[in-house]
Amino acid sequence: FYDQKPPQALKGTNVLVTAGPTVERVDPVRFFTNRSTGKMGYAIAEEAAKQGANVTLISGPTQLTPPVNVKTVQVESAQQMFEAVMKHYTDMDVVIKSAAVADYRPKHVHQQKMKKQPGEAVLELERTTDILKTLGDYKDYNQVLVGFAAETEQVDLYAQKKLESKNLDMIVANNVTSEGAGFGTDTNIVKFYKRNGEQRQLPLMSKSSVAKVLLEEVKQLLESVRQ
Ligand code: CTP
Ligand code: CA
Repeated sequence: FYDQKPPQALKGTNVLVTAGPTVERVDPVRFFTNRSTGKMGYAIAEEAAKQGANVTLISGPTQLTPPVNVKTVQVESAQQMFEAVMKHYTDMDVVIKSAAVADYRPKHVHQQKMKKQPGEAVLELERTTDILKTLGDYKDYNQVLVGFAAETEQVDLYAQKKLESKNLDMIVANNVTSEGAGFGTDTNIVKFYKRNGEQRQLPLMSKSSVAKVLLEEVKQLLESVRQ
């Protein structure tokens, strides 16, 4: 039989992928996080590396094994993810932000375990930096920026708003309440929206197949920004 090595379609391309949740500490025994296992982002990083890209994966805490041939940077909080992403951004041809980043963090991180008091309690929260929006603001004309949108309603509307407000080339949206899509599953149902108005709905697929189709789209976007 013949050699079935995947085509090295992304050879020499520098690709940054973020994956997983962020974890925001409250005190030494408590934290806030998001529902994300990291499977989608890890599948993208793995597939991009198979296709010859130089892949950097910036990951929040997950149960997953880092893919081979991928430079993996482990982070915990949204702020740490922001700093790691900004450190690598200028060298990147493509950034794919599949991480579920916390929008808020506790305003004060308590050094000792918080003790319960009589009655109700209020925890003050502050906004984290929107990493993807910052990337969009600084984007070079020849960089390709891909975001994700996990929605529970009005997917078209919210996804397209994010595409525009974050200055993305493409956004990958899924309705996380549909069967077979979203958290923890090995499958996903996604829709792509591109800056040029093109839309593409994919059927229920394995996350590794979604990663392949997504990278096909990324290759086209790279060709269009390189012209
Ligand atoms: N994102 C980010 N930094 C944040 C919040 C989100 O980089 N602080 C990125 C995510 O990685 C994702 C995209 O922005 O690629 C959309 O995230 P999402 O949570 O769906 O959108 P938000 O802009 O945070 O809006 P909201 O949560 O209010 O729907
Ligand atoms: Ca959010």
